[in-house]
Amino acid sequence: MCGIMGVVAKRPVSQLLLDGLKKLEYRGYDSAGVATLVNGNIERRRAEGKLEKLGDLIKERPLPGTVGIGHTRWATHGKPSEQNAHPHATNLVALVHNGIIENYQELKQELEKEGYHFNSETDTETIAVLLTRSLEQQKTPEQAVAEALPRLKGAFSLAILFGHRDEMLIGVRRGSPLVVGYGQGEMYLGSDAIALASLTNKVTYLEDDDWVVLTPKGAQFYNRGKLVSRVVKQTAFSGELIGKGEFRHYMLKEIHEQPSVVGNLLKHYLQPQTRLPHFPSLAGQVDWNKIQRLNIVGCGTAYLSGMVAKYWFEKYAKIACNVDIGSEFRYREGCFIAGEATLGISQSGETIDTLGAIRYAKQQGQQTISLINVPESAMARESDVVVTTMAGPEIGVASTKAFTAQLTVLACLVIDAALKRHQLDVKTAQQLTAELLETPAILAQLLGKQDMIHKIAEKMTQAKDVLFLGRGVSYPLALEGALKFKELTYIHAEGYAAGEMKHGPIALIDDKVPVVVIAPNDYLLDKTLNNMEVVAARGGQVILISDRQGHERAKVGVHHRLEIPVNTHLINSPIIYALPMQMLAYQAAWLKGNDVDQPRNLAKSVTVE
Ligand code: F6R
Repeated sequence: MCGIMGVVAKRPVSQLLLDGLKKLEYRGYDSAGVATLVNGNIERRRAEGKLEKLGDLIKERPLPGTVGIGHTRWATHGKPSEQNAHPHATNLVALVHNGIIENYQELKQELEKEGYHFNSETDTETIAVLLTRSLEQQKTPEQAVAEALPRLKGAFSLAILFGHRDEMLIGVRRGSPLVVGYGQGEMYLGSDAIALASLTNKVTYLEDDDWVVLTPKGAQFYNRGKLVSRVVKQTAFSGELIGKGEFRHYMLKEIHEQPSVVGNLLKHYLQPQTRLPHFPSLAGQVDWNKIQRLNIVGCGTAYLSGMVAKYWFEKYAKIACNVDIGSEFRYREGCFIAGEATLGISQSGETIDTLGAIRYAKQQGQQTISLINVPESAMARESDVVVTTMAGPEIGVASTKAFTAQLTVLACLVIDAALKRHQLDVKTAQQLTAELLETPAILAQLLGKQDMIHKIAEKMTQAKDVLFLGRGVSYPLALEGALKFKELTYIHAEGYAAGEMKHGPIALIDDKVPVVVIAPNDYLLDKTLNNMEVVAARGGQVILISDRQGHERAKVGVHHRLEIPVNTHLINSPIIYALPMQMLAYQAAWLKGNDVDQPRNLAKSVTVE
């Protein structure tokens, strides 16, 4: 969602704000703005569109000032426009906001009755006006914030700048993340530590309902009116880790990181001697034998990794699973039985629907386990047990390495559960982990197949509709292939269980529809190939992804072939076959000239419902 940045210093801050916002652009990119104090007065520059436009504007009309706030927006209330771009300001206060103020209409009416005017369609401006009313009553900035916060409903974070107060900024966190950074004689605010990486690696993560007063000398934290102390942490982020390196796009870099991400995870979660899983954070906390049913929740790609895990958990560990989209699970009033646990999956650990599902599961008395990539996230803090995917920062809006990292950890969790529940013996478990240990090398080999993928992607750019088909663990992968393809190329794409085509969707097939068939050489290969032939017989342009044996068995009806260099196993095929799906979407989007890292209408870390 939106990115927030703030700096209070003794030197000009507008360039520092722009640099920080650049790193936050993945959170939203439909408009941007900054505000600083110039001779005590609030001055703003705002622009619709990408951050570059704001940079150009500031070049034309420089913005001096040693204290300032900045924002990159993903519109919720009010279309992307300069008028709706943050910071929103009066002559006394300016602020930037991430999240939603649910009761803004009610507050706006109250303030309008008192004669206040609004200049935007946003919920954010209500907070600026609310603070202004208190400041006009001669309240201090601290008093104004303390008065305003209880009036606001929703999840949000704020950075606030006050007229004629060039030594202070106030940051607020309720629900949405906010980080304080410590510099030499200057202090920073950011939506995440990544934004501050080139300025500092000493940070404090605000807790829920914290607000903080920043001066160049330090930070004072408050929670519900009381002064509180918060720990300073060292982050591992460096400019290099979050740069693009030699790659054209973050997404391409992140696709290429997968062999090492998967390899490092296996090193971490498999014991070196026995090659059996070990999860220190689960020890004494999760008793797999007591879990009668596992609810797996997530959104988008994370939900799809959960769908793959259901196949594995049920087959190997004999744990009944229910997989749900976060926003559905929390509101559908499902029937629960004693002994259920909920496993939430999320890269960011911030996605409000998944977080809401975890909270809901807790209210139902379930044990909650989170599989997340950002250890400091809200989901990590609120879950009973946390397992991390350690994939490093994922900046490309389309999730790639986080997905394969989730699958890798889930595979290890399944084997762990299966052993504890005596559903697998040690030897069989070791055979499975041996397959997993082959995965990084296979992924690296696949990265060398880009020419072939490029040729196929080129053909797919001409299509109006694309279908992705798979069976078993390849069914969720077909959904993931379609999700990646549509969000990056803007071409309509659907994923189907291959066996389901004949029940309706086959009506869509003609000789213009590319059909990607994911067919690893598993117990379902023949059935998948039969489904493929039915599609081919209706003119579908089949793109078959399989290993050598699969290709040999598929004699007819294949237009393009993509060969996976080795025979995979059920436990690692989804991790391996994910890579060509990502590359097809990446290449096709790039060939179409789309913005691969920041596809239209999207943003990473969705902190609104
Ligand atoms: C798709 C994609 C999204 C995310 C979803 C969940 O490429 O990136 O579908 O997977 O928004 O995000 P997290 O994992 O942060 O909860």
